Amino acid sequence: MANLEELDKNKMPRHVAIIMDGNGRWAKKQGKLRVFGHENGVKTVRETVENCVKLELEYLTLYTFSTENWKRPKIEIDTLMRLLVSSLKKELKTFSENNIRLNAIGDIESLPKRANKELKEVMEKTSQNTGMTLTLALSYGAREELKNAVKQISAKVKNNIISIENIDETIINSHLYTHDLPDVDLLIRTSGEHRISNFLLWQIAYAELYFVDVFWPDFSSQHLAEAIKSYQNRERRFGKTSEQLN
Ligand code: IPE
Ligand code: IPE
Ligand code: MG
Repeated sequence: MANLEELDKNKMPRHVAIIMDGNGRWAKKQGKLRVFGHENGVKTVRETVENCVKLELEYLTLYTFSTENWKRPKIEIDTLMRLLVSSLKKELKTFSENNIRLNAIGDIESLPKRANKELKEVMEKTSQNTGMTLTLALSYGAREELKNAVKQISAKVKNNIISIENIDETIINSHLYTHDLPDVDLLIRTSGEHRISNFLLWQIAYAELYFVDVFWPDFSSQHLAEAIKSYQNRERRFGKTSEQLN
């Protein structure tokens, strides 16, 4: 297994995004309720954030709750929202000590009042921090994000603020929730599922994908190191030939 110390500091991804999957199955495997899995998943979030700070990563984005996750049983949604509020309260100190700026993407107005308020407070209190940007995707769906961008751009065209000819990738980018984030370099998904589940469809166009067969509560610093090591051993060609790169 790789460890964080052996990674090449000169070949670090700028932006790592993680689909934190498998809390429910992790709990079920031990005959426990799904809630138990989510509680343990929070510990992994904390450790992963700390590890990414140690690696001096610039951007970490975590898929925390999708637009589709609203279809889950109310009791599970309530638990997830309760865990979100308690973690935000607890971690404000950690964010400040580690110079982390908290950011959120998604329809955060649809979150329960308390979660929305706590989130905004922590974002405001950490807004001047200059270290890692930690983005939580909450009530996030990539199709919803793209739909909103299309609506906003259409309204601007209608009102003669932008012309159709000028619509380019930069303009589309600037209307996404992620307008102030660089493209994803490395996308990790735990739990053994090989799918994207409506996460950052536009932003992962050229991301390196890494799937690992471990449930999120068991994702360790070694797994993170393995993922980044794999990333460092890949050749990112962006359409060019290998020869052109050298
Ligand atoms: C990921 O774990 C957490 C969220 C989606 C909120 P799951 O809850 O999806 O766990 P599995 O995939 O059912 O095991
Ligand atoms: C994706 O996991 C969403 C998050 C990790 C927050 P899901 O468990 O919701 O994805 P599917 O349903 O297996 O595709
Ligand atoms: Mg899942």
